[in-house]
Amino acid sequence: MVEEHENIRRMLKVIREISYRVMVLDEFHIDDVVDIIDFVRNYADRHHHGKEENILFETMNKTIERLAKSGAITGMYIEHDMGRLYMGNLEKAIERFKDGDDRARLDIIANAISYSELLDRHIEKENTAMYRFAENMLDEDNKNYVEEECNKVEDRASHEGLQEKYLSLLANLEKKYLGK
Ligand SMILES: [Fe+2]
Ligand SMILES: [Fe+2]
Repeated sequence: MVEEHENIRRMLKVIREISYRVMVLDEFHIDDVVDIIDFVRNYADRHHHGKEENILFETMNKTIERLAKSGAITGMYIEHDMGRLYMGNLEKAIERFKDGDDRARLDIIANAISYSELLDRHIEKENTAMYRFAENMLDEDNKNYVEEECNKVEDRASHEGLQEKYLSLLANLEKKYLGK
């Protein structure tokens, strides 16, 4: 999951570069932003956040009362949800841009940058706090349960070719926009 965070952060860099180009009207393809939304929704959200929400955080919520009561886990769910809002707004802005509304560039940049700032901070919190709490506070049985359930999701996704599809999409965008 920490590795997925790194992949998501790589995409955040692409998002920042495209946003800059949208601002200064440098070369960009609007359909690349459509691909980014697809990556965010299916790789970052459905796949990665899905494992957090349905397996890891759910187990932490049920078994670590002190943490559940603190609201820290609820905060993670709320941030996932805010990410969905930004992506919804970004999608609408792209439609308007495609319809010829130049001012939609403002909403593309605002939502793309808001998302990348939100996710970067969110990932930092998970890497340095939530995942560590899981490591230190879950008992062995629950750790094994989380591990097994995540592996099942991982296997199903590999079977569908999800990781392969989105990691190659990421690499292509990095090449195009960051010269990697
Ligand atoms: Fe998360
Ligand atoms: Fe995460």
